[in-house]
Amino acid sequence: MQNKSNILERRSIRRFLDKEIEQEKLDAILEAGRWAPSWGNLQCCELVVVQDAELKKSLSELLSPKNPGTPATAGAPIVVAVCGRPDKSGYYKGKQVTRYEHWFLYDLGLVSQNISLMAHELGLGSVIIGSFDHEKAEKLLRVPDGCELVSLIPVGYPDMAPKPPKRKTLEEFVHYNTFSDE
Ligand SMILES: Cc1cc2nc3c(=O)[nH]c(=O)nc-3n(C[C@H](O)[C@H](O)[C@H](O)COP(=O)(O)O)c2cc1C
Repeated sequence: MQNKSNILERRSIRRFLDKEIEQEKLDAILEAGRWAPSWGNLQCCELVVVQDAELKKSLSELLSPKNPGTPATAGAPIVVAVCGRPDKSGYYKGKQVTRYEHWFLYDLGLVSQNISLMAHELGLGSVIIGSFDHEKAEKLLRVPDGCELVSLIPVGYPDMAPKPPKRKTLEEFVHYNTFSDE
């Protein structure tokens, strides 16, 4: 039940206290990312932990002004930039092996969820940010060719306790045996 409540209680946190994250907690969060499942265990993920205030501010300027994650990106003690190598996931001997060419996004989603849940378990908050100028962010963080920056995860001590946003009921999205009757 403990893990279940961790899943249910995690919320996207977009405002943080002015308080550093202890190194053991940061290590535990990164370790949680390390143990995420991945395509063929090829572990396409690369993480950049951004602590530099100028870099965080520059990253926040790459989100649209209306993105609610903008202040979180500038104000969090750390922003984890989640990067991955597209050709390491869903490919065998250089050939795409299913109809999907972007399995690396799936792998990075699993890493991101592990990071978010571990942060919550340790009393920290986080928000996954996917809407920003990816090319400019890659240049800023000097992400090499062959690797793509997909999301940013500001992490810090929460300065807000949001109410849970609505979710679909199970009846609205779970299908037993076949998707439809016809
Ligand atoms: C792939 C992905 C991209 C997201 N991008 C943004 C974003 O750009 N800005 C933002 O404020 N929140 C972003 N979010 C957070 C969602 O808005 C949030 O998870 C959703 O509203 C549900 O709220 P909860 O996380 O508190 O349950 C993103 C979440 C995911 C999974």
